[in-house]
Amino acid sequence: MTARLDEVVEADLRPLRELASRTFPLACPPDLDAGVIVAFISEHLSEEAFRAYMESSDHEVLVCRADGGAIVGYVLLVEGTAMDPDCASQVVHRPTTGISKFYVDSEHHGSGVASRMLDDLMARSRQSGVRSVWLATNVANARARRFYVKHGFEPRGNRIFDVGGVANTDVVYELPL
Ligand SMILES: CC(C)(COP(=O)(O)OP(=O)(O)OC[C@H]1O[C@@H](n2cnc3c(N)ncnc32)[C@H](O)[C@@H]1OP(=O)(O)O)[C@@H](O)C(=O)NCCC(=O)NCCS
Repeated sequence: MTARLDEVVEADLRPLRELASRTFPLACPPDLDAGVIVAFISEHLSEEAFRAYMESSDHEVLVCRADGGAIVGYVLLVEGTAMDPDCASQVVHRPTTGISKFYVDSEHHGSGVASRMLDDLMARSRQSGVRSVWLATNVANARARRFYVKHGFEPRGNRIFDVGGVANTDVVYELPL
């Protein structure tokens, strides 16, 4: 599998929503209430929500397809620091892009798909003139934190991320390009 990223199209919305619903819980802390997770998914990861991201000029949705065409990963990008203006002071390099979601289906974890997706994302970002990408991931998400650090992301600090009224502590990372 090349694991190149493609622009999302309307026909992707249903499988994308299904992938997003399956994978969002993987990034949540183990003690987060299941009802809170379900509510977040239905508000932010529905087909309507993804259609709105597609149509928004400051969002971009990219998908990674397996050789047969099935979507096995996706990325949601937000221009600048609009993803969380409270994090703006932690981002060193501008212009920047926020990585709001970076998810791979669990059967492809450890396969190299995520690394190739990230390489493609870096190439696209450099080409667009961006000087860094940044993101925030839960402190308890040890696998994602290890993945980002091994790919050169630098920790910048923390932020509080609200999931359904529950305050979660995230680590903020930036990757200079
Ligand atoms: C984050 C994600 C994209 C990384 O992709 P991946 O294929 O799992 O990544 P890799 O296997 O290349 O790297 C993961 C690293 O974490 C390590 N790891 C695995 N489980 C771990 C754990 N419980 N604690 C610490 N490190 C762990 C792996 O050994 C590997 O490090 P290594 O290459 O030095 O051995 C993928 O796991 C994913 O989609 N997770 C669910 C969604 C998510 O959390 N997204 C990020 C939200 S911001």
